[in-house]
Amino acid sequence: MNVFRAAQHPGWPAHLGPVRVAAGQVTLRPVRLRDASAWARIRVRDRDHLEPWEPTGRGAWEARNHPSNWPSLWSSLKAEARRGAMIPLVIEVNGTFSGQLTVGNIVRGALRSAWIGYWVAKDVGGQGVATAALALGLDHCFGPVGLHRVEATVRPENLPSQAVLRNVGFREEGMLRRYLDVDGAWRDHLLVAMTVEDLSGTVVDRLIRSGRATPT
Ligand code: ACO
Repeated sequence: MNVFRAAQHPGWPAHLGPVRVAAGQVTLRPVRLRDASAWARIRVRDRDHLEPWEPTGRGAWEARNHPSNWPSLWSSLKAEARRGAMIPLVIEVNGTFSGQLTVGNIVRGALRSAWIGYWVAKDVGGQGVATAALALGLDHCFGPVGLHRVEATVRPENLPSQAVLRNVGFREEGMLRRYLDVDGAWRDHLLVAMTVEDLSGTVVDRLIRSGRATPT
């Protein structure tokens, strides 16, 4: 690995896992240019599942999620990763593209904080994939990346995502009124967070202890 890049952005690039859950082996890896067709196929197919929770975009969903849009998105994600502000990862289940997990707004200095967000394809939903991916992402943030705090925001209506956040140990900090422009309007979001002090061992170990994942 390039020594300068490693010093500037510890924890990037990252290959994380596996963690075994009901859906299979969950791993995380950096986004790739050749993810275009898998990314677009799932996002167009799962529009109803994804759109209510995603930032409002310009233009039709199909156009925004066309394979031809992936190269510019991929390149901006990689540029943010290179400057140390982001960790853009693909969630794979048994080696197949099944969603994304992104760590963003990485701030160093006295804050050492970031946000984390994710989506998972509907056909592997309800089988522990997001929970496992989030656990891997958090262990990475609190380990090699060296963060002190990771936060997430979630719409109060998004009960599955709140369950995922709770199950990995996030605590609720409050309600952010009209916080994000999501699905065509300014939406309230719950703010949840974890700091290093909230951990006892790794988050993946906690999942295994609670029976939500099995050792690989
Ligand atoms: N009410 C309450 N809990 C529910 C509901 C419901 N209607 N439906 C499912 N759940 C629970 C499940 O029981 C499970 O909890 P449990 O393990 O305690 O039983 C949990 O939600 C789902 O856990 P996983 O199987 O690990 O999650 P999954 O892989 O299905 O992914 C996700 C969940 C990411 C929310 C997926 O449905 C998705 O991608 N949705 C659309 C995009 C999205 O909402 N992204 C998150 C935005 S918020 C953020 O990024 C911080």
